[in-house]
Amino acid sequence: MTRRIVARRSPIHGNGVFAVAPIKKGEEIIEYKGTLMTHAEADELYGDGGETGHTFLFTLNDELLIDANRKGNTARWINHSCDPNCQAVIEENTDGNPRKDRVLIEAIRNIKPGEELTYDYGIVLDVPHTARLKKLWKCLCGSKNCTGTLLKSKR
Ligand SMILES: C[S@@+](CC[C@H](N)C(=O)[O-])C[C@H]1O[C@@H](n2cnc3c(N)ncnc32)[C@H](O)[C@@H]1O
Ligand SMILES: [Zn+2]
Repeated sequence: MTRRIVARRSPIHGNGVFAVAPIKKGEEIIEYKGTLMTHAEADELYGDGGETGHTFLFTLNDELLIDANRKGNTARWINHSCDPNCQAVIEENTDGNPRKDRVLIEAIRNIKPGEELTYDYGIVLDVPHTARLKKLWKCLCGSKNCTGTLLKSKR
């Protein structure tokens, strides 16, 4: 299959992922890959989110998350937007094994070549979302409805 996406520098942050061919609404683009670990293991390795505003972690389910620092693929470069053109869908496997759940990035709009792919990270930290943390996780997506932070209100 011809490559439809490429990672390169992004105006939002660091590296981003861009379409190099048209992608249709509803199409699956890439799986978010990496090494599975428990939430406790990730907290031990990377802290609880209060130290840096950067993460390659994706919460898979109550037990596990995907650490794209280890064996991650191009999906780990996809940035967050408050007005995204993709969504991350967690595909739960049918035999109830949390290790077999997967994260798939799908287009929620038609995407033209040159457009940056984004999805809404929906990050909820275990610690209170103080003003300091919201600033640490400042959003630079540039969309009209930007909430100003990557953190999602706890409720
Ligand atoms: C999975 S990485 C995405 C790749 C990232 N651009 C890089 O070069 O490492 C997630 C991190 O990228 C940054 N990021 C992603 N979307 C952002 C946004 N809309 N505004 C500001 N920083 C963002 C944050 O530091 C976030 O924790
Ligand atoms: Zn934003």
